[in-house]
Amino acid sequence: MDFYEVVFKRRSIRKFKETPVIEEVLFRVLEAGRWAPSAGNTQPWHFIIVTDVEVKKRIAHVCTEYSRKHWADFASETARYLAARGGSWDKSAMAKIPVLIAVCFHVPEKMREELALASAWTAIQNMLLAATAEGLGSCIYTFYNTEEENQLKEILGVPENHRIAALIQLGYSKAKPPKPSRKALEAIISYQHFKR
Ligand SMILES: Cc1cc2nc3c(=O)[nH]c(=O)nc-3n(C[C@H](O)[C@H](O)[C@H](O)COP(=O)(O)O)c2cc1C
Repeated sequence: MDFYEVVFKRRSIRKFKETPVIEEVLFRVLEAGRWAPSAGNTQPWHFIIVTDVEVKKRIAHVCTEYSRKHWADFASETARYLAARGGSWDKSAMAKIPVLIAVCFHVPEKMREELALASAWTAIQNMLLAATAEGLGSCIYTFYNTEEENQLKEILGVPENHRIAALIQLGYSKAKPPKPSRKALEAIISYQHFKR
């Protein structure tokens, strides 16, 4: 697939088939993450590949508990937008998604946390694009609060000095979500100075 085709084709997928993702494909996606840029080339990430159904069930249980609260806090417009794209506070289906990748990171010495976090997100974006190029669907899952992140850290045995930036849900798409809108380019750029 042409690069721009990948960029425009990538969508957040919230309904997955149970068809497994073969290791060769998964490793190409992980390689794309490995080659992402990172602050000072510190590569502060660690990717945990979760395919075990019992572990995924435990993750799904925690995510459902916190997503219930998260959705209660959403503006009704956001909840409607996500629901129209297969989103729900009920994350029990996560246990059936073929692969979850927990993208962890640590903060290298003398580095601002934002830079380590940003590095983890460059890897996430590379993996989302690679997944699209591989014909896979993906969706980011982020946490309601630190308590949720900590519960997942415990399930996954993530060391104290690491955080989880997000989970990537990965598998073959079951449905084609409607294309979301984007702000017009003229509305988000300006030359030389910030102009509204
Ligand atoms: C920082 C970040 C956090 C996100 N967290 C979630 C999430 O927790 N659950 C979810 O379903 N989608 C999540 N998304 C996906 C967005 O909802 C999605 O990118 C947006 O609606 C645009 O749709 P598209 O990805 O199909 O273009 C997240 C995206 C980003 C960049």
